[in-house]
Amino acid sequence: MKPSVFIDRKIPSEVEAYIAEHCVVDKWEGLTPIPRQQLLEKIAKTNGLLTAGAKIDSELLKQAPHLKVVSSISVGYNHFDLAAMKERGIIGTHTPHVLDDTVADLAIALLLGTARRVAELDRYVKEGQWKTGDGVKLFGTDVHHAKLGIIGMGRIGEAVARRAKFGFEMDVVYFNRSRKPEAEEKLGVRYAPLNELLAASDFVVMLAPLTAETTKLIGRKQFQLMKSTSIFINISRGQTIDEEALIEALQEGTIAAAGLDVFEKEPINADHPFLKMANVLTLPHIGSATTQTRFDMAMLAAQNLVSGVTGQTAPNIVDELK
Ligand code: DGY
Repeated sequence: MKPSVFIDRKIPSEVEAYIAEHCVVDKWEGLTPIPRQQLLEKIAKTNGLLTAGAKIDSELLKQAPHLKVVSSISVGYNHFDLAAMKERGIIGTHTPHVLDDTVADLAIALLLGTARRVAELDRYVKEGQWKTGDGVKLFGTDVHHAKLGIIGMGRIGEAVARRAKFGFEMDVVYFNRSRKPEAEEKLGVRYAPLNELLAASDFVVMLAPLTAETTKLIGRKQFQLMKSTSIFINISRGQTIDEEALIEALQEGTIAAAGLDVFEKEPINADHPFLKMANVLTLPHIGSATTQTRFDMAMLAAQNLVSGVTGQTAPNIVDELK
């Protein structure tokens, strides 16, 4: 008998067809995310779940006597309660590698977009304010040859460093849980303790995954270490920074600007202070969102799911559940 799986969001039909070759598929067809109560009802009957952000906690696992695998279409897996999953022996998988270059491209877009004020000046032109030529008030900051600090030197960090170093001839320093001698050698980047990196960098890019250790890693004290001309980019998870402290740092001129793809609460509230700040570039969590990469992620997640529910070793089990 084929195992059963539940897909909690729309995925490409080719990916769904692949899953259907191996499993009995049930899926959520709503245009908005599946309500929690409905997910709890679905999870009661299934062997596998394909999701991208559903909270997998003990409440959900209690309702899921037949569940074997949760496959997430994401590299981040902070929505997994790892202890609860471990206790139940649930396989949890994610989609590393396939999105590295795409997310790194967006980090560069945020660097350039904030430094050269791209969105702000697009509005300036479209609102008919371009009357007097490009005066001082339109000036931005150079990205090339500036100092970039990368927090979190995983695969995506390395992809950002490569672009920065070889594309823009930036001086790249990084902070990471462990030193990366190979990356240092290959990319010509240097390790720096966090406080040193913050104090020295013109641009700081946050790429560390969200864990207990990285929650609010950057707060008021850390922003105060940064240069008043520096620009902060967050492309990991909103909770890695203290959002209140970032708002304060931007309002008080402690730092110059921010480029944010992620927020503490997503979607962001309509009255959020960031939305009124010209020096904040906001994006709706689109780090990996290109057609090709999202397809590749969905297909990889599908392969992880099928392997897990058919009793093979799923290729991308998250480290903590191996
Ligand atoms: C991920 O894969 O974790 C990215 O943030 C996109 O969701």
